[in-house]
Amino acid sequence: MTAQLIDGKAIAQQVRESVAAEVAKRAAAGKQPPGLATVLVGDRVDSATYVASKQRACQELGMVSFHNHLPADATQEQVEELVRRLNADPQVNGILVQLPLPSHLDEEHVLSLINIEKDVDGFSPINIGRLAQKGREPLFVPCTPYGCIYLLEQAGVKIEGANAVVLGRSNIVGMPAALLLISRNATVTVCHSRTRDLPAVVRQADILIAAIGKMEMVRGDWIKPGAAVIDVGINSKPDATKKSGYRLVGDVNFEEAREVAGFITPVPGGVGPMTIAMLMKNTLRAAQIQDP
Ligand code: GUN
Repeated sequence: MTAQLIDGKAIAQQVRESVAAEVAKRAAAGKQPPGLATVLVGDRVDSATYVASKQRACQELGMVSFHNHLPADATQEQVEELVRRLNADPQVNGILVQLPLPSHLDEEHVLSLINIEKDVDGFSPINIGRLAQKGREPLFVPCTPYGCIYLLEQAGVKIEGANAVVLGRSNIVGMPAALLLISRNATVTVCHSRTRDLPAVVRQADILIAAIGKMEMVRGDWIKPGAAVIDVGINSKPDATKKSGYRLVGDVNFEEAREVAGFITPVPGGVGPMTIAMLMKNTLRAAQIQDP
């Protein structure tokens, strides 16, 4: 059997088009465009690239972005003062503090200061706490896990009652992905570096979300036949046939897994484009909450 590909690029494009249409409708009704403030501290090239993509997406969808760049040696007070100013700015509907912050900063405290109505990344302790509790609804769900669940739903994969395995327990992907799957009534196992007999655990999965950051670690014979495989990994693999000298691969060995799985996301073009699409959806939602 060859797995059905879940086309993240096409699904992200549909999300973006529906957000753009709603933004245009709001503009026609005389409302201000949804505004996203991005905060970048330091000069990590990967973070700067992600933030630039988020700003570009805002422009493409008729939203506005406000970029804030602080030096790598910014103090805790400077970052907090910026977040307070953005909380008070009526043009700013969403605040995104790009992670990781430089190690001298207290990330948890910075995230806790973001007004939960502007927490479009869903990382404030209140939004995450609500996601973890029964009968409570977060205002926003973190963008990459939200994208993973959205892909499963669009592919028609049944989450309720499924055995789901999440590889990785990061604050940004693994843990919120596990919480989201639980909230949709999956039976969830979270695996990490100290999990015993990882292949045997993964073989139980009807749904696998791989977010462990290890190139092509999941082999084809780890996959349950017919499983839905969502690969969050983005790793550079040396490839002499490419001009750049490398190509992007996931945490799953795609060629092996596609022969066994029922559904699989490619890398690139799977989860990657979903993160920004869901951020745009969250930013629109923030504007709708603040200016119904
Ligand atoms: N760093 C890696 N992924 C993310 C993300 O989704 N949001 C933020 N703020 N930082 C990140």
